[in-house]
Amino acid sequence: MPATRIVLALAAAIALALLAKPAHAEPVGQSLPAPVPGTSAVVFHASAAARDEAPPSLCLKEPLRPDGPPPSGWKDTPVFSRPQGRAAAWLPTADGTDLYGTGEVAGDLRRNRTRTVAWNTDAYGWQRAELSLYQSHPWVLAVRRDGTAYGVIADTPERCLIDLNQGIRFEAAGPEFPVIVIEGPTPQHVVRALGALTGTANLPPRWALGYHQCRYSYTPDTRVLEIADGFRKRHIPCDVLWLDIDYMDGFRCFTVDKNAFPDLRALNGELQGQGFRTVTIIDPGIKLEDGYHVYDTGDALDAWVQNSAGAPYQGSVWPGNCVFPDFTMERVRQWWGGLYGQFLSLGVDGIWNDMNEPAVFNVDGHTMPTSNIHRADPELGGTGTQARFHNVYGMLMARATYEGCAVARPDTRPFVLTRAGHLGAQRWAATWTGDNTASWDHLDMSLSMVLNLGLSGQPLSGPDIGGFVGAGDGPMFARWMGVGALLPFARGHTGKGNIDKEPWSFGSKVEDTCRLALQRRYRLLPYLYTLAREAAETGLPIARPVFFADPADTTLRAVDDAFLLGDDLLVVANTKPGPRDPAAKLPPFPRGKWREVSLVPGDQADPDLPRLFLREGAALPLGPMIEWSDEKPLDEIELLVNPDAAGRAVGTLYEDAGDGPGYRDRAYRLTKFTFSGGKASATVADGDWPAGTWRVTPRVVGK
Ligand code: NOJ
Repeated sequence: MPATRIVLALAAAIALALLAKPAHAEPVGQSLPAPVPGTSAVVFHASAAARDEAPPSLCLKEPLRPDGPPPSGWKDTPVFSRPQGRAAAWLPTADGTDLYGTGEVAGDLRRNRTRTVAWNTDAYGWQRAELSLYQSHPWVLAVRRDGTAYGVIADTPERCLIDLNQGIRFEAAGPEFPVIVIEGPTPQHVVRALGALTGTANLPPRWALGYHQCRYSYTPDTRVLEIADGFRKRHIPCDVLWLDIDYMDGFRCFTVDKNAFPDLRALNGELQGQGFRTVTIIDPGIKLEDGYHVYDTGDALDAWVQNSAGAPYQGSVWPGNCVFPDFTMERVRQWWGGLYGQFLSLGVDGIWNDMNEPAVFNVDGHTMPTSNIHRADPELGGTGTQARFHNVYGMLMARATYEGCAVARPDTRPFVLTRAGHLGAQRWAATWTGDNTASWDHLDMSLSMVLNLGLSGQPLSGPDIGGFVGAGDGPMFARWMGVGALLPFARGHTGKGNIDKEPWSFGSKVEDTCRLALQRRYRLLPYLYTLAREAAETGLPIARPVFFADPADTTLRAVDDAFLLGDDLLVVANTKPGPRDPAAKLPPFPRGKWREVSLVPGDQADPDLPRLFLREGAALPLGPMIEWSDEKPLDEIELLVNPDAAGRAVGTLYEDAGDGPGYRDRAYRLTKFTFSGGKASATVADGDWPAGTWRVTPRVVGK
């Protein structure tokens, strides 16, 4: 080849290479202070310019404070690119790496080779293959073959594809986004670090860990009393009854239908006398109607999300034509929060924020146009479109609700349930998995959904026990209650026009199973409450994947028909149709001698209930059999003990007033139980409460 042609070819090659080079070729990584001891974290930006222009994070608890270059030898560095004007980041994964997290997703626990689109969606009747559900968690937990772990946050609120087919890839609709990578010696370290960065759940009131009964809708008031009576006369434990939208006057939020509920305060008083709490639903769609106080006061405040022309956006939801509060403004959150003062004075104990994706009827995608305008405060990045704020709309609504309840009733802990959420939403609300279906597949998926939500920062979740859509049948309901009663948030619920789904609706055999299932939960309440406290303190989930017991044991990585409650109790569920085969193989167990335990007489003999196994070396405090959480004080503890080879076992118990903020000022007691030499002893490990005066009776299992 002549020299000139070689030179030309070289020049063309260089020009091509330059053109192909991504716009921001030089990613910048900055080290972060260790989120929790033993971990390290680095924030990466696609370029120095992307870093300098990055809008404020909408998921982190506080702005990051980078403090130097990445640690030397740092391996997990993302590759940034700009495919078709979108922003993408990719991290390779080594062979044998298992992936989890990605929030509220249908399907199996292990997320390798899946795709998820983080875009909050009203997904009524969703199925296994659904790409988007009600929440968005652009977060992946990666567990290497050797049990060490790392986690990746794509810090973008925009619609974001999480593609786990080859490595970990995020592709978002909006501007370039930072990627935070956390390294830890175990997955627990990494999940705790996620909690440190995105916030942990507040300690709920103890009653919220009891059983909740809901339907769309219990109405009128006499029906609610019938349900309450149904529980108490059958001695089936229950703490909370829920009022769905039909309690409202024409679906106007913060109003009450005076025909169906002539005196809501009196009804709530009567329920409280029987040990029940009430949670009522409040949606974001506000009926556009002059004279309706919520509309009038919101309108005077110019509180509504705007369309692209700058006028209040109108969309149809339950009450008809609605406007939607713009929760990205502090003044709107305050106004909204203020509405709860009078409402809670009706004796309402908790608030259910639904339809806050936000859901809109009869439009493409069941939500507002992405061109709608939010006039966000500067700390959220200032005015932006719904494309930027869509995924955090529900979370900001829950925040406004939580803060409003805290102000309205400072002596109680707010309890808020939200349907939509984003990374970090656990700071303000618990959640449930939306409009599931009464099918065996949905029963099965409810476990992996709750586990992955827990691995994504949200420790308090559960499915509609029994299924929202469709009837199902008695055997499925019994099995669902068996498992659901052991998940962090336990609520039965079903849709309008559906058959009754109370624990007694399927005949006496199913009723007996439900009673046992819920008696188990109530005996576990002291343990569940201890775990809720641990979740609030550390960010660790309440329901944990089995591989947490031994992250290096790769045989445990795909187990999702069993899970751990805390570290000590292994729950083996049976979510397949048909009677339990006594010869059926158990899933792989973590090492150590896990011993099967009974919590209430007859539970082990009921084939519809999950089997329970206690970790070797664990001492688990069980409370008395009660029918609601504060029926009586904890004065008797049965310590379930599985001694190790040296005859020892240890456990902890957290106690406080069960409600109110006193625990923040050390009004609590953390007790450490030690079983040794055949005897149990207790020492106060933390808190200002004096030592417990309960009677402790150890029960050694497997003997
Ligand atoms: C949709 C929710 O997902 C469901 O749980 C509720 O019952 C209905 N909205 C009616 O409020």
